[in-house]
Amino acid sequence: MRPLIAGNWKMHGTLREAVTLAEAVRAGAGGISAELLVCPPAPYVHPVAVAMLGQPVAVGGQDCHLAVKGAHTGDVAAPMLRDCGATYVILGHSERRADHGETDAVVKAKAVTAMAHGLTPIICVGETLAQREAGQAEAIVRAQVAGSLPDGFAAAGGVVAYEPVWAIGTGKTPSEADIAAIHATLREAVGGTTRLLYGGSVKPGNAVAILALPHVDGALVGGASLVAEDFLAIARAA
Ligand code: G3P
Repeated sequence: MRPLIAGNWKMHGTLREAVTLAEAVRAGAGGISAELLVCPPAPYVHPVAVAMLGQPVAVGGQDCHLAVKGAHTGDVAAPMLRDCGATYVILGHSERRADHGETDAVVKAKAVTAMAHGLTPIICVGETLAQREAGQAEAIVRAQVAGSLPDGFAAAGGVVAYEPVWAIGTGKTPSEADIAAIHATLREAVGGTTRLLYGGSVKPGNAVAILALPHVDGALVGGASLVAEDFLAIARAA
């Protein structure tokens, strides 16, 4: 299946920096066979989508509400993201699960809404360090997948990202054997057609090895996606 290299820009940058980064990614996208996706902060989704118009780089949101409209101050609705040019949305990132108390059930409801409004969900799962040290990593991701993925997820092209919480922004990654083991578990759980991304301290220097592992169908990149050259180097490794 075609690899997906997704950049999660999180809450970084100015509008000008976002558009400049988008233009640099666009300029370097030619000749890359992986699918490319950038997920800017919500206020920058539309200007980034405009910068990517006609180019083979998709744009996504970092979250959406489970409702499509209403009295939800500060939230963003799936149809709004779609209207602004997004075609993907990241859901259930561990930072959202931790900062906003998002449960598997909430993530699942958001995915249903996203899919109904033309967005492909990328659902994040992953264990904390304490859970890994307790030997619970596989059970945790299995439970998160069971609780977060709605019916019809695979048919809608939904994507799962394995992001061990302790590897995010730390420069640490699981061993290749540990990534392969979790991805084998995920493959068994989600079936053969769902793309499985690895996320957590992916850099140009480790991308070739990680992306070559079985059942790793791409990467969800945080910090390194804020530097166009690094993001493109990771994409070239896929
Ligand atoms: O969603 C991507 C992310 O959480 C990984 O972040 O900075 O470790 O690549 P980073």
